[in-house]
Amino acid sequence: MPKNGFSPEFMQELKARNDIVEIAAQYMTLDKRGYNYWACCPFHHEKTPSFSIQAAEQYYHCFGCGVSGDVVNLVMEMESLSFPDAVRYLAARAKMPMPEMNFDSERTAELKKKKDRLLKILLTSARFYLQNLYGGQAQAHMEYIEKRGLLPTTVKKFGLGASLDYDSLPSLLLDSGFTREEIEESGVCAVNPRGKLFDAQAERLIIPIINSFDEVIGFGGRILGKKTDREAKYKNTKETMLFNKRKTLYNVNLLKKYKQKNALPYVIMVEGYMDTISLYQAGFCNVVASMGTSLTQEQARMLKRYAENVLISYDGDFAGQNADLRGLEILKEENLGVKVVLLPDGEDPDDVVRKRGAAAYRECLDNALPLVDYKLHSLERGFDLASAEGKRAYARAAMSVIAQSPSAAEREDLLKTVRDKTGFTYQSLARDLEEYTAGKRAAPAAPAAPPPAARDKGDKVQKACRFLLAAVLFRQPYAERFSLREEDFQNDVHRTVVRYIGACREAGRDIRVSDLFETFGEDTAEFNAILDLNTEERLFGSGAEKYFSDCVRTVSRWRIQQKIAALTQQIGAEQDLAARRALTEELTALTGELKNYQNYRS
Ligand code: UTP
Ligand code: MN
Repeated sequence: MPKNGFSPEFMQELKARNDIVEIAAQYMTLDKRGYNYWACCPFHHEKTPSFSIQAAEQYYHCFGCGVSGDVVNLVMEMESLSFPDAVRYLAARAKMPMPEMNFDSERTAELKKKKDRLLKILLTSARFYLQNLYGGQAQAHMEYIEKRGLLPTTVKKFGLGASLDYDSLPSLLLDSGFTREEIEESGVCAVNPRGKLFDAQAERLIIPIINSFDEVIGFGGRILGKKTDREAKYKNTKETMLFNKRKTLYNVNLLKKYKQKNALPYVIMVEGYMDTISLYQAGFCNVVASMGTSLTQEQARMLKRYAENVLISYDGDFAGQNADLRGLEILKEENLGVKVVLLPDGEDPDDVVRKRGAAAYRECLDNALPLVDYKLHSLERGFDLASAEGKRAYARAAMSVIAQSPSAAEREDLLKTVRDKTGFTYQSLARDLEEYTAGKRAAPAAPAAPPPAARDKGDKVQKACRFLLAAVLFRQPYAERFSLREEDFQNDVHRTVVRYIGACREAGRDIRVSDLFETFGEDTAEFNAILDLNTEERLFGSGAEKYFSDCVRTVSRWRIQQKIAALTQQIGAEQDLAARRALTEELTALTGELKNYQNYRS
């Protein structure tokens, strides 16, 4: 069983029953040219289509940005789903039963039923709140909305509503046939000491929290006036089967829709509901809220499905709260690019767009600091840079931050920043950094990079390997009789492809590129590079056949050279004379073989 938990047979069936062209057509305008379809790439910004849907092979590849995937990857991207959820989505679409996943299916069915009931309660409540807002009884709420500068279209877009009292919601829900227990479990109502149900968000402005499937899973409610000692400014639905704050990003529903129409290089992460709504209204649609500052790993993982980069845009005094740096580390651990947006002290994003305008906020985004720079920046606050002593202490502390940067150019920039802040010379600071890292260096240094010559050669071999694989994978006549050997390939992705082709040939099965996608997991760059060769001029052009035989030679020669290097080492270490002679003979034979190849030049 492959690591994704689904059998190859199931995956093949799933892909056979979900045509990638049909699925793609739901999201983009396709232009048919020959056998294939073309569209503007949903993953990078472009005006002329370089995104291809290979109908026969059932995969997509963008010749502009290099991404590729099968129908499952496409659904993962467009619906922002995890792999298993995308599989479930496609199985449901094709009316295929999911394979038994080894858990009590009766219990699962029961939970599903319960979940559906709770979702109904949430939806009924959301509609009720919405009607309240527009029903003429909600003047206070409307005034509040106006005071916050929200336009009617924005209020509609976010489905804002109003709770008018304590009792109407429970009455409505009970009348609609929901049980007391269900209503309580859904979190929309709570029970008072006398055992009576009441609206958990009584009298508040209601902000529905909606998941990526467009289901209302909870509510945030704001009090209309100033917060009191008795009442929190915001109240969220309690943790339920549907709502887990740690696993939720506010506005993920609109973010998903936005991503289906736009390339999404980064997401803006704010703290609050109002920040989100206000930024969205100001034209910054790629925004979500963590609902408070402490980001969780679950939220970071979710974010990762939408974009590679995140701009943290918390309140202006965020720099003072060092505990929150932890949240930023969590994002980095998920390999998200992290930058921090600095706002004027005491202002949140909502304040900035309202008081200073969208352009001013845009400028803040443009000036966002990379995480290290931000750390250095926030370090400053702890020191008195007016005194010589403060400057020295700051410079010392800065070294531990700068040393974290893996890039020499970046370290240089950071040192210059410290120089400008303190007036110490660059040279002396660079020496401090050296001393600091020397003191820290306990582990032996990483192995040195190969010399440039070897690296260039490695590149050339890598390219040749890719071409061989592409030619066989796309069944070029000139590659038909060529047999791939796993030992000729160093790269794990290449070896996986070789094994797959071998298995197909052995079983007399067709080679289908789309079979391969789920075997590579997150890192598909190398496979993308192979698929990138599948264009007219490369694989089918007049020079292709000649290039193919050059590649065969390059790869074979490389392998012989590797063997020679290994043998030479072995001979040097061998004590036994007879064994040594045998090895030497082998070496001579290999050298002869290599000469044969040398006669061709490529
Ligand atoms: P903020 O207090 O910064 O919210 O809290 P805000 O959006 O700026 O509030 P106003 O309306 O403009 O004054 C940020 C987020 O933290 C959560 C909410 O999700 C809020 O949007 N929070 C805050 C709570 O859950 N409860 C609270 O009492 C306060
Ligand atoms: Mn605010």
